[in-house]
Amino acid sequence: MLMSVFWFENSIEYNKESDAYFDIGSSKMVRGKRVGIVGAGNVGSTIAYSLAMLGACHEIILRDNKIEIAKGKALDMSQAAAAIRSHTVVSVAEKMSDLTDCDIVVITAGSPRLPGMSRDDLLMINANITREVIEGIAKYSPNAIVIMVSNPLDVMTYVALKESGFDRSRVMGMAGILDSSRMAAFIQEKLGYGGGQIRASVMGGHGDDMVPLSRYSTVAGVPLSDLLSAEEIEEILRRTRGGGAEIVALLQTGSAYYAPAKATVIMIDAILKDTKQIHPCAVYLEGEYGYTDVVSGVPVMLGANGVEKIIEMNLNDDEKAMFAKSCASVRSMIDVLNVNKFFQGV
Ligand SMILES: NC(=O)c1ccc[n+]([C@@H]2O[C@H](COP(=O)([O-])OP(=O)(O)OC[C@H]3O[C@@H](n4cnc5c(N)ncnc54)[C@H](O)[C@@H]3O)[C@@H](O)[C@H]2O)c1
Repeated sequence: MLMSVFWFENSIEYNKESDAYFDIGSSKMVRGKRVGIVGAGNVGSTIAYSLAMLGACHEIILRDNKIEIAKGKALDMSQAAAAIRSHTVVSVAEKMSDLTDCDIVVITAGSPRLPGMSRDDLLMINANITREVIEGIAKYSPNAIVIMVSNPLDVMTYVALKESGFDRSRVMGMAGILDSSRMAAFIQEKLGYGGGQIRASVMGGHGDDMVPLSRYSTVAGVPLSDLLSAEEIEEILRRTRGGGAEIVALLQTGSAYYAPAKATVIMIDAILKDTKQIHPCAVYLEGEYGYTDVVSGVPVMLGANGVEKIIEMNLNDDEKAMFAKSCASVRSMIDVLNVNKFFQGV
């Protein structure tokens, strides 16, 4: 049973008859922001914990097939929120029909990438899970903004968009912020300084063909090429492309979750606070950069309405070629789904 939770502010007054809070100025009922997270595994529960500690929303609802584990994690997190005197409540939806009226739903449900398994191997398994989950979201949280995390990321974002029927501004994937953070960490490691001042830029798909843009990467405004040799930059780019696999090889059981979760929380926070900041996110392209009917990572403006603007950068010929390769790789996975008649419900 889910509890309705309402936002407290100085101008907000509780009305006993309707058991709701009202803005005294406008007499409108005000509800706290509700974020649903489908898949309460490593990434999903770390997103929930990070969000709860941030106090960015009023309610977090976890949904996972492993209900008892999700309940245990929700209790634990609610207690952590109480410890820091946060208003955030963490609860569990036992069924998709309990995941109602969310402002944002994050999808992390799926199988993690195991050692030796490519992202592409996960395609059919996760496409079916995504379809099942997005159908529930479209039905029970029809106004939600959806953030896809499950891999292969760009194709799962495409599946979520097509199967939800939502406008493309409300369905996006998390990858670019993570990939850029990985590149920034590798730049800092190579330089030995500049932490917190590095702006790394990565676009394209979240795969081996991602497009790290060294030309747009700086340390406190200083171009990377003024600080590192071409060979050193190439090494950073190679490591960025293999950033996920490097962690998979070390962990042995499962894949990265701290940085993926933080990157997702940055997106949630930007939407809930309507920051209008620019972040690289996976979105459905309708002619931007010369591509249509494919999802890829590009800089977008995030705000209360989701993806409010897609920014088109002037890529040089090399960057265009890398982006083309990346889009072709995503397209080939969409083709696999088409060949298997996935979108015809088979
Ligand atoms: N986009 C990125 O940059 C990025 C980064 C890291 C991980 N990932 C992906 O995120 C996904 C989750 O990773 P993880 O490490 O948290 O995996 P995990 O195995 O720890 O968690 C996945 C959870 O999904 C649940 N689940 C499976 N099917 C479900 C369904 N139909 N309904 C509800 N819950 C369901 C499982 O019970 C499990 O708890 C994977 O696909 C992984 O590859 C993406």
